[in-house]
Amino acid sequence: MSKNEFPSELFLPLLQEANVPRYIALFRALRQSIIEGKLIAGAKLPASRPLAQSLKLSRNTVKSAFELLLAEGYIETRRGSGSFVSDSVCVAGPTANVIQNRPVTKSSAKLSNLAERLNWQSHHKVPYAKYLLEPAIPALAEFPWIKWQRAVNYAGRVMKHEMESSGLGSLQLRVQIASYLQVVRGVNCHENNILVFSGSQQAIYLSLQLLLDPGESVFVEEPCYFGIDGAVNAIGANKILIDIDQQGFNLKEEKQHQANLAVVTPSRNYPLGTTLSLQRRIALLQWAKDSGSWIIEDDYDSEFRFDGPPLTSLQGLDSAQRVIYAGTFSRILHPSIRIGYLVLPDQLVQPFSCAKALMQGNVSILPQLALAQFMAAGHFSSHVRRMRKLYHGRRNLLQELVAQYLCEYLTLVPSDGGMHCVYLLGAGYSDKVICQRARALGVGIKNLSDYYSSDNKSQGIVIGFAGFNEQQQRRAIRALESIFSEY
Ligand SMILES: Cc1ncc(COP(=O)(O)O)c(C=O)c1O
Repeated sequence: MSKNEFPSELFLPLLQEANVPRYIALFRALRQSIIEGKLIAGAKLPASRPLAQSLKLSRNTVKSAFELLLAEGYIETRRGSGSFVSDSVCVAGPTANVIQNRPVTKSSAKLSNLAERLNWQSHHKVPYAKYLLEPAIPALAEFPWIKWQRAVNYAGRVMKHEMESSGLGSLQLRVQIASYLQVVRGVNCHENNILVFSGSQQAIYLSLQLLLDPGESVFVEEPCYFGIDGAVNAIGANKILIDIDQQGFNLKEEKQHQANLAVVTPSRNYPLGTTLSLQRRIALLQWAKDSGSWIIEDDYDSEFRFDGPPLTSLQGLDSAQRVIYAGTFSRILHPSIRIGYLVLPDQLVQPFSCAKALMQGNVSILPQLALAQFMAAGHFSSHVRRMRKLYHGRRNLLQELVAQYLCEYLTLVPSDGGMHCVYLLGAGYSDKVICQRARALGVGIKNLSDYYSSDNKSQGIVIGFAGFNEQQQRRAIRALESIFSEY
């Protein structure tokens, strides 16, 4: 960016901040622009002299602001070339920013009741804005792009001979998924029981639509993933909340026979990370068998278990064919690949595939073939192994940093893996306030209370570690420390 291109005048109003030295005001203005993605990674900053002239500041003021930016990792210097916005800054890009900041206006158009219920979801933020420590973001920089591109090229070549003939999805992909699930997750399955979707959210929503009529009851974990809560609300089902304790989903005696369906995350409750104990798994399966009810097992990131191999799925213990297993590649590979699937009991394959054909149609064959090739070549398994190791290290680092800088404010909720950690807050702190302040500093932690439906909400924060390296974690933890110490 040349001197003439740099929009110095935009910073002038921001320098009027009262009661702070001018170099701090300039530092904050530049930092804010970097966080908001107005100055993108790699952008060159003007030299201190011309910037000082155009802002009518002393050169030392500009130099001091640059030094602060450098110390906090927002910019880096390259010998003989000047200062640049740091490549490792991982914050909202311009597009994400525009989307995030656009106010959600209530539509005056006449819409269906379903549309009204779906609109209830609009306050939830989709986790693609790349704020630091945002949960559900994998290590995107570690994705094996070259291998993926080769797989996509291959898919492009074979696509001309591959007409999608089955409503279930690409046979090659279903064969790969079936053999992976049998070996790694202990799922009982055949490729003809697998139905491919554009992500597991779509798969779970369709399942709810097909298994429940409005007003019928469904057991939902408390707390739970907002996508499940939103889908249950949207279809007009009667939601019965089941508390999560140290052994997971606690289906008590008095609640038995009350619901046609249970939606659970047995490997790791989302977001608390609790694993459903064997005793409770058996009780839940018995309930489904006795009452003729269904269980949706949402298995979203069980590959990332650090204290041993992934646990056997609930579906793998089910002898009565009552479990619908939902899986996704969003967490393991990349959120933009948009492929998920269901493993269906035999009697549901035909009604589900017919409904899918009418309601959603087939998933594009190109990414399915690419993913099948990627898995057949062994890249998927090796990526999972690499990420498990990387995330384990990142999880340990996060816990060390929290123990070092934030231990007086936060208590860890133990979990044996995953991509985020949950911490409970001490009395007197509002998790909403903490998260709002964190977001203003470019840190995308989530407030735990948002995942609860009842008024009995725990106050805590959900901190993503998988997508963030040491430098990014340290920067974010420093920002959180400042928020807590000024609270
Ligand atoms: C618990 C849980 N279930 C389901 C999903 C949906 O995943 P997908 O991206 O495949 O729609 C997510 C996504 O983050 C999730 O966290």
